[in-house]
Amino acid sequence: MTGTILVTGGAGYIGSVAVKALLKKNYDVVVIDNLSKGLKKLVDSKAKFYELDLVDDLSKVFEENKIDAVIHFAAYKAVEESMENAVKYSDNISGTINLLNCMVKYSVKKIIFSSSAAVYGEANGVLSENHDTNPCNYYGFTKLECEKIIKWYSKVHGIGYVCLRYFNVAGDGGLRYLDPDAKNIFPIIMEVLVKKREKVVIFGKDYDTRDGTCVRDYIDINDLVDAHLLALDVDYNGIINLGTSKGASVKELVDWTSEVIGRQVPFEYGKRRAGDPAELIASNEKALKILNWKPKRTVKDMIKSTYDAYKESFE
Ligand SMILES: NC(=O)c1ccc[n+]([C@@H]2O[C@H](COP(=O)([O-])OP(=O)(O)OC[C@H]3O[C@@H](n4cnc5c(N)ncnc54)[C@H](O)[C@@H]3O)[C@@H](O)[C@H]2O)c1
Repeated sequence: MTGTILVTGGAGYIGSVAVKALLKKNYDVVVIDNLSKGLKKLVDSKAKFYELDLVDDLSKVFEENKIDAVIHFAAYKAVEESMENAVKYSDNISGTINLLNCMVKYSVKKIIFSSSAAVYGEANGVLSENHDTNPCNYYGFTKLECEKIIKWYSKVHGIGYVCLRYFNVAGDGGLRYLDPDAKNIFPIIMEVLVKKREKVVIFGKDYDTRDGTCVRDYIDINDLVDAHLLALDVDYNGIINLGTSKGASVKELVDWTSEVIGRQVPFEYGKRRAGDPAELIASNEKALKILNWKPKRTVKDMIKSTYDAYKESFE
């Protein structure tokens, strides 16, 4: 595909890296972001930027640009907050509907949607796309609803779609992004290293895993973005997991970070958290088959790139 790609959420952690990658592939790029979390400075100046909320009138964007496809990253994504503020998180759904209605009106025929492993809920083990979906938080519910609505718009209006269910995205995409509101294990470990936190708390050490701590599937942001570029070009409508088919335990993350950085990461064990499954890993067979995509970066690569970003900002 060539032409103009509309990137929603293009000022965020993943979207801003995708914008750069698209520009590098000679696409024209238009970004919509409400800057609720994203930062304008992360958006490459070669992209055309609109500070807009997806629930607002978007016609200006579609009138002023001939959009060929949409990569839809924009969403609120804090799981706990979604359980406290369903009104805010419902915008994930209404914003998506608003966007799809514009796509119908302006004859835009393809969307790549950022979905999440959160649609599977309290699943355990290696998950294929056929695994039952049963979100256990409102954030995951909004993602699943969006997937369903997109599928219907595809049926009714012939919009091509790929819903990509990301597992745990990590690493630096070259923009030195620091999570302003760290809730995930990678930025938490980094905050300990740069002395913004005292120690890493590992929740639970008696899970049925190789070292008793929870295992998750970490995917490098650059590999993730590559998958989006490939998805633009496939003639396939459906859902694809994005993960590595491998997992790392929390204790391994702490140990590998100590090894990569050459300094012990202080940690302690805490109690299990409610609702944390022992192991969550993506089967990525379908991504390989449909997108011809394979992750290239390792967890140690992710640790190294994230640390470089944090080190630069704190030293
Ligand atoms: N980071 C992960 O590990 C992960 C995992 C699974 C799924 N996802 C999904 O990937 C997408 C991108 O995630 P991210 O990590 O880059 O998050 P992020 O918060 O850094 O980026 C999301 C961007 O969307 C913008 N935004 C949010 N709601 C908006 C709205 N209503 N209108 C306009 N802009 C809006 C925010 O300002 C932000 O810049 C999200 O949809 C997220 O749910 C992320």
